[in-house]
Amino acid sequence: MDAELDYTVPTPESVGEFYDRANVVIAQAQGGNMHYGYWTGPDDESDFETAGARLTEMMIDRVGARPTERVLDVGCGPGLPGVRLANSSGASLVGISASGEDVRLANNRAVQDGVAGRVSFERADMLALPFPDDSFDHAMALESIVHVPDRVRALREMARVVRPGGRIVLTDFTLCAGPERSTDANFVRILDSWRAAAPIAAEDYQGFAEQAGLVLDEVTDITENTKYTALWTYLALRRYAREHPVPAEVQQIIDVVPFSSVPDEQLVQWWRPLLAGQQMQGVIIVVAHVP
Ligand SMILES: C[S@@+](CC[C@H](N)C(=O)[O-])C[C@H]1O[C@@H](n2cnc3c(N)ncnc32)[C@H](O)[C@@H]1O
Repeated sequence: MDAELDYTVPTPESVGEFYDRANVVIAQAQGGNMHYGYWTGPDDESDFETAGARLTEMMIDRVGARPTERVLDVGCGPGLPGVRLANSSGASLVGISASGEDVRLANNRAVQDGVAGRVSFERADMLALPFPDDSFDHAMALESIVHVPDRVRALREMARVVRPGGRIVLTDFTLCAGPERSTDANFVRILDSWRAAAPIAAEDYQGFAEQAGLVLDEVTDITENTKYTALWTYLALRRYAREHPVPAEVQQIIDVVPFSSVPDEQLVQWWRPLLAGQQMQGVIIVVAHVP
């Protein structure tokens, strides 16, 4: 799909720099996490913090770590999901991010939550994990492989460091609409503004898993529950930017959506009908295990 898309292919360096500058503003817009929220339906008025925690809990349940186990959090952001996993399961956790700022904030969070003895974060590239083979029981990659054009390479690294029988639980972005949308100029601007890689198709995961030496256990499409994320993120970023200086990376995200001068309520009215129709980008939860 990359070949058809005239977009800027992200690298670990460009992604790391993006989060170094934008993570604080994005995390405050997304309820402390940097990932999609999960809403039960159009009448669910949960705030982003609640909806984001719901998705984290769905991942934690699937990882199913026990207190004696050690989990790798791949693409940890400022650490909220990793610390939540460690708190609720009792497991040890090592998180990695391409962003040094993510790592600094995540380690601060581990200290504040009193779990620094068994939870730590470090800067590393998921395409070249600095850990020995079979050194983790499970891996969780919550909305991080979305930045990696070569999904199989990232999955191979996770498969290498997770012991046989261990689970790999991740979310990824899919391209929902017809292939013609993949060349949509605005879609390309959205990808570029988030330093995202081209989305894949849910069906691709069977082949990805096989090529990475994994057994695929689950692919669940959660687009209907997560599709509210873009609107609430955009509104929160826009409101924040009215009152605070924001880094150029955040301004770029805001500028992708037209009608910047349209009042919030009007924008919501314009956007809501779009949520009833076909989404351009979807979200899947994927679970696989090392045979
Ligand atoms: C959308 S944020 C998700 C953060 C966190 N998992 C959460 O759910 O709040 C994406 C994360 O993936 C990390 N990431 C992206 N590409 C990476 C790479 N090649 N190596 C390590 N981390 C990467 C980013 O630095 C960032 O922390």
